[in-house]
Amino acid sequence: MDLSQLEGIVQGRGSDPFDIMEVMQDIQATYHYLPEAALCRVSETMGVPLIEVFRLANFYKAFTLKPRGRHLITVCMGTACHVRNSPRFLDEVRRRLKVEPGRTTEDGEFTLETVNCLGACALAPVVIMDGKYYEHMTPAKLGSLLGAVRVQEGRPLAHA
Ligand code: FES
Repeated sequence: MDLSQLEGIVQGRGSDPFDIMEVMQDIQATYHYLPEAALCRVSETMGVPLIEVFRLANFYKAFTLKPRGRHLITVCMGTACHVRNSPRFLDEVRRRLKVEPGRTTEDGEFTLETVNCLGACALAPVVIMDGKYYEHMTPAKLGSLLGAVRVQEGRPLAHA
């Protein structure tokens, strides 16, 4: 794990304990998770007990202590989405990206998650990609979803 950017993040925000959430958000955005070494450094620099830093990291859903890919795909498997074929969409994600739910692709690009309801059942099946909701998803739409990510980044379509 390359933590070379960590010092810049921690020093850039100063050492005021009231800024700890911003520092943790910056670390999450940079590394796509909160490395343990980073949390120890935050604790030292900001004078916040390590147990409190971990409590915050565990409490907020936006944070994760497990490494994630650059992109997060969340497939809803709740009842409304399930009856409208979300399992077929999930199978297509697994087949194309060669990744299982709860895992990250070998190249570190995509993490796949499933949830039981996203609160948008009328739009089922629903998928979230990097925080953006996509409605009425079908396996055929996966290619354009992955392609949109690559095009935004100006990179070739390796997974499509
Ligand atoms: S079951 Fe999928 S959004 Fe509610």
